[in-house]
Amino acid sequence: MELEFLYQQPVRIRFGAGTFSRIGETMKEFGITRCVAVCDPFLEARVSALSSETGKICGVFSGVEPNPQRSGVDVVVRLIRENRADGVIAVGGGSTMDTAKFAAAVAGEAGDAIEFFRGERPFPQTHIPVITVPTTAGTGSEVTQVSVINNGSEKKTINHPAFLPAAAIVDPELTCSVPPRTTMNTGLDAMAHALEGYWSRGHQPICDLMAIEAVRLTLENLEPAWRDGSDLVARTNMSLAALLGGLSFALPKTAGSHACSYPLSEDYHLPHGEAVALTLDSFVRINADQRLELLCRRIGLRDTEELASRILELKKLGGLRTRLSELGTVDLNKLAHDAAVHPLMQNNPVRMDEAALRRMFEALA
Ligand SMILES: NC(=O)c1ccc[n+]([C@@H]2O[C@H](COP(=O)([O-])OP(=O)(O)OC[C@H]3O[C@@H](n4cnc5c(N)ncnc54)[C@H](O)[C@@H]3O)[C@@H](O)[C@H]2O)c1
Ligand SMILES: [Fe+2]
Repeated sequence: MELEFLYQQPVRIRFGAGTFSRIGETMKEFGITRCVAVCDPFLEARVSALSSETGKICGVFSGVEPNPQRSGVDVVVRLIRENRADGVIAVGGGSTMDTAKFAAAVAGEAGDAIEFFRGERPFPQTHIPVITVPTTAGTGSEVTQVSVINNGSEKKTINHPAFLPAAAIVDPELTCSVPPRTTMNTGLDAMAHALEGYWSRGHQPICDLMAIEAVRLTLENLEPAWRDGSDLVARTNMSLAALLGGLSFALPKTAGSHACSYPLSEDYHLPHGEAVALTLDSFVRINADQRLELLCRRIGLRDTEELASRILELKKLGGLRTRLSELGTVDLNKLAHDAAVHPLMQNNPVRMDEAALRRMFEALA
């Protein structure tokens, strides 16, 4: 067997309940003296209090919405430039972290965010440090070089080293307030990152190990976290699953389910995790092979069929949509076409052309 891989993970990670209170230390470690904070609306008071504790926060933007718009990036870029900030903290879900990562990457350059979004300007080699603090357990954006930003109805995933955070503070306590449905959506997103990193054409052994553990943790802890949001053990294990999920797809990249999630989010407005989960059990069956059987046995499952059933059960438990008929009138041809041409579909281990995807979607109709 020929084995060759390249592994690199440059983000400093601090993990543990209560670690958010030590953010001042991390800011100091990275020489941040004037910081812009980007946070979810429900965190504004807490982050403003942080400002008076550290005395270093010079601007706060709390207006990021799910499926973040480029206009939000513009606001953060303006705050960074006006305040001559030398760092950014992002406290929130994937939408907030992706907005902050994009803004920090481009703020030091001439030009508007839209020019970088359209590929008219190259992302710079260096930028001010970003500290990510996830408040959902799902995207893994705290450690990835990915930013997902929307310009109107166009959703773009950009993968570039300019989006790498300097540090991540993963404090599971912050996730205790996530409502049950979002807990389920985001938890299944974490599971998808791990499974897709594992079966991606670019899979590699270090990421595989993290993927296996992320799938195991999700199967054991997502339902308890969904049932009782204050269960700190389940929340801690889900935060770890999301972090490991992020690390397990960061290099190999995601595959079929994420490729399908883009038209599902753009045209039918499904939240990211729900859109990904809609086809995840289908892809478990499509991609079932010896490697996936091995993953299943290592985490105590009988086979890939049991994995697919467990994913479907979780979706139903959480009230997520499992059939396309629940989305209204769906244009199957467009859906199959858009999924087939998405670049991430190239990473799927089983080649899925438009006809194969149409068959998969017909079975989900
Ligand atoms: N950059 C990456 O590597 C990466 C990976 C996967 C997904 N994404 C992107 O991330 C976005 C999805 O992020 P998400 O799933 O974290 O959801 P989100 O950030 O859109 O948040 C969903 C909702 O939950 C709320 N919320 C967040 N934390 C909360 C908490 N602790 N308590 C109560 N409410 C809370 C938010 O305010 C929001 O209303 C999508 O745009 C997706 O495409 C990015
Ligand atoms: Fe995702």
